[in-house]
Amino acid sequence: MSIRSCGRTHCLPGAVLPDCRVRQTRLEAVPGTLLIPLAARAYGAQLYPWLECADTQARHLLDCLGVDCAPLLQDRVAVLNVLWRTRVIKAWAEAFFQQYPAATGVALGCGLSHYFQWLDNGANRWIDADLPEVCALRAALLPPARDRRINAEVDLSRPGWWDTLRLPAFDAETPLFLICEGVLMYLPPAQAQAIVAEYAAHAPPGSVFVLDAISHLGVGQARHSLSVGPTGAEFRWGLRQTDELLAVHPRLRLAESRSVSECYGWMGWAAEMLCMPWFGAPLYSLVALTVGPR
Ligand SMILES: C[S@@+](CC[C@H](N)C(=O)[O-])C[C@H]1O[C@@H](n2cnc3c(N)ncnc32)[C@H](O)[C@@H]1O
Repeated sequence: MSIRSCGRTHCLPGAVLPDCRVRQTRLEAVPGTLLIPLAARAYGAQLYPWLECADTQARHLLDCLGVDCAPLLQDRVAVLNVLWRTRVIKAWAEAFFQQYPAATGVALGCGLSHYFQWLDNGANRWIDADLPEVCALRAALLPPARDRRINAEVDLSRPGWWDTLRLPAFDAETPLFLICEGVLMYLPPAQAQAIVAEYAAHAPPGSVFVLDAISHLGVGQARHSLSVGPTGAEFRWGLRQTDELLAVHPRLRLAESRSVSECYGWMGWAAEMLCMPWFGAPLYSLVALTVGPR
């Protein structure tokens, strides 16, 4: 099998298959989950045309990696969740950068997502941060561009990631916009909360931290997911109540929360309302946390 040369480092003549190192990449369980949102953004609009996100890169990246997307697209729930969250996060980020055009955005556990393709306004900056093995892939597939988007290695499970990424201190004038999507549910609860707490302790006032969360009922249930199950990753953290995040640090404020049930119309809303006493939190939701002054 061969791939087209795209002119990028890994595809330059002589580096093309059969010994293209990009295509030989094998990721561990949790980093391997990055293919799920990538496939959804590349092809998911075939299933949900109204959620088309116009990701100009995703198909090409999947081609380079030689991924067969068909099994991933069978998980229609995951595809819907990804396309819905991408749309909501884009809208939140656009509103943020309208208010703070020269601010910095950060994608924590970015995988092969590429939000800057939509959010670049000519003045803002963007940091895509992930584990070293994922950054190595990004270096080949999505190298830094125009000095305003960089890739950065980080292990979010280790305290100190804020300083590792050299993010501005809490007394900086301009707030930050941070995304942590498809990441926290794979971490032990204490680590997920520590990441939110580190944001709250360091971020300049007015910053926004967007995370997605599953219900606590999903914890330990990854084997039932058509897309996550085969990767060997497990769901380890979920919400019992959306408000519980605010208890992680006194500076945290709930800016907004949304449930994917909105994609299912009034029946989804009604079913969620009926089940809330047992579920406590939506089955899948997006939460935007901001921080007040210290
Ligand atoms: C499901 S993927 C989501 C990727 C991306 N956010 C998206 O929506 O396309 C999970 C990502 O979290 C990253 N991740 C998991 N644990 C991490 C850690 N401790 N530090 C940094 N990144 C981590 C993985 O490497 C992987 O890229």
